[in-house]
Amino acid sequence: MSPNRMHRAAARLAVPLLAAAALAATPARAAYPERPITMIVPFAAGGPTDVVARIVAEHMSRTLGQQVVIENVAGAGGTTGILRASQAAPDGYTIMMGHMGTHGAAPAVYPDLKYDPRTDFAPIGLAAGTPIVVVARKDFPAKDFKEFVAKVKADSEKLNEAHAGVGSVSFTTCSLFNSLLGAKPTRVVYRGTGPALNDLVAGQVDYMCDQIVNLVPQIQAGTIKAYAVALPERSPALPDVPTTKEGGLPEFQVTAWNAVFAPKGTPPAVVKRLSQALLASLDDAATRKRLLDLGGDLSNTAARTPEGLQKLVESEVARWNKVLKATGAAK
Ligand code: MLT
Repeated sequence: MSPNRMHRAAARLAVPLLAAAALAATPARAAYPERPITMIVPFAAGGPTDVVARIVAEHMSRTLGQQVVIENVAGAGGTTGILRASQAAPDGYTIMMGHMGTHGAAPAVYPDLKYDPRTDFAPIGLAAGTPIVVVARKDFPAKDFKEFVAKVKADSEKLNEAHAGVGSVSFTTCSLFNSLLGAKPTRVVYRGTGPALNDLVAGQVDYMCDQIVNLVPQIQAGTIKAYAVALPERSPALPDVPTTKEGGLPEFQVTAWNAVFAPKGTPPAVVKRLSQALLASLDDAATRKRLLDLGGDLSNTAARTPEGLQKLVESEVARWNKVLKATGAAK
């Protein structure tokens, strides 16, 4: 074969080889997500964290084109599920719904907590604010919040208060409430305030400080009594429920929050995709209506971004450390 013909043959062969080499060199950048995503909810099904997670996950699934599947992993005030999620592969296929307890109060009540909310996550964004409501079994012997407070102050040793585990929102906020009253009830722990609510409806426990999104249907049905909402103004979802300020306890004002996180080290492009899907869910009229009808607070748009959520976590860890030290609940 002449040298010219050899060169031409080699040139013809080189093109596909070069193309193959180029393909092999660039990792396969398939569009994320290629398969379903797990969202760990660190409490039992049916509680407020689960309610918020399922509402936003439904719309996120549509935006992402893959199912966001809820997995409930309860225990230790939510820290069991969050630790599990934090140790998952940072590939975007395991995310979590954390909140003011798991990513705010937990370090103050678990000195040996195996994660740091400020450094061990890739924040995605705030889902919803969840005002706290003080609720009791429907036959609790107090006609209004003032009488309820007086009764709890006088008889707390005989009362049972339900919460979702040390460091949970229900534990943290009722630690503050009890401390303001000097109350020392028996504190009954549940794997979430979904199961706790069942016992409150059944009259097995006396009261609870819980997130409004868990309570509105039961309050409207009259199966539990709502004494006050811990807000400066009444909630549009519960217009007949007075505020703690109206009831003479303005110092008890708390709005918890639920937010989406991914494990630390999740690629920025994946964080961006998840953030876009969360923002789209919170801009969707039907999703907003579901959250607002349950008393959710969607006003904090700043914390909906990864950077905004990071700032919220840092300020909440500091805030609850101070509050829980003052109530004696911090270790
Ligand atoms: C809590 O912190 O009390 C939890 O959010 C309750 C729950 O979601 O079950």
